[in-house]
Amino acid sequence: MESIGLDYLPRGEAVGSGPDPGRALDDLKEAISDCHRCPLGDNRTNLVFGVGDPQADLVFVGEAPGRDEDLKGEPFVGKAGQMLTRIIRAMGLERNDVYICNVNKCRPPGNRDPLPSEVQACSPLLLRQLEIISPTVICALGSFAARTLLMTETRISQLRGRFHTFNGIPLMPTYHPSFLLRNPHAKKEVWKDMQMIMEIMGLPGKSGD
Ligand code: URA
Repeated sequence: MESIGLDYLPRGEAVGSGPDPGRALDDLKEAISDCHRCPLGDNRTNLVFGVGDPQADLVFVGEAPGRDEDLKGEPFVGKAGQMLTRIIRAMGLERNDVYICNVNKCRPPGNRDPLPSEVQACSPLLLRQLEIISPTVICALGSFAARTLLMTETRISQLRGRFHTFNGIPLMPTYHPSFLLRNPHAKKEVWKDMQMIMEIMGLPGKSGD
């Protein structure tokens, strides 16, 4: 882990399966609050760290904050966020039951994809978040998160529908909520992916919508 530049982030006893993941996340957030490791830090309104249960069984990972998220400092609060909230509720959960974050913590201008250098600068933070939370399952929302976490160029349509492994944790790639807003017919595929996640988590089956 240290070889990819994690040494600037605090470790402390509360990391990983330690006694207080909430404190470890708070320490991490504090440590990077003034981050300028890439140019995205220069134009942000807020660094969008992540929200939810520090001990969540399920972590959703998106791409990067958009305008609404940058203004509020919280991931997935715009239209795509409303879609994600609907998905979470359809699973029988609330946003507070899961953890939601992004590969990049600051908004890229014009909502472009983060550049490789920006991902390289920011991804150690995501890795540390996942290490602290140590979830049962990860859901990568969209091709950007899936390709970054799985280090592949494979298309999301080829990746979704089955579990992959990220540091020993089952990872389900699925379509991004923004894609669902433009392509509602893909909702049934996402629901299949969510049902597989629910099965691993031992959640009761639902019919979706
Ligand atoms: N899209 C993302 O990938 N992340 C957000 O937080 C919002 C929109």
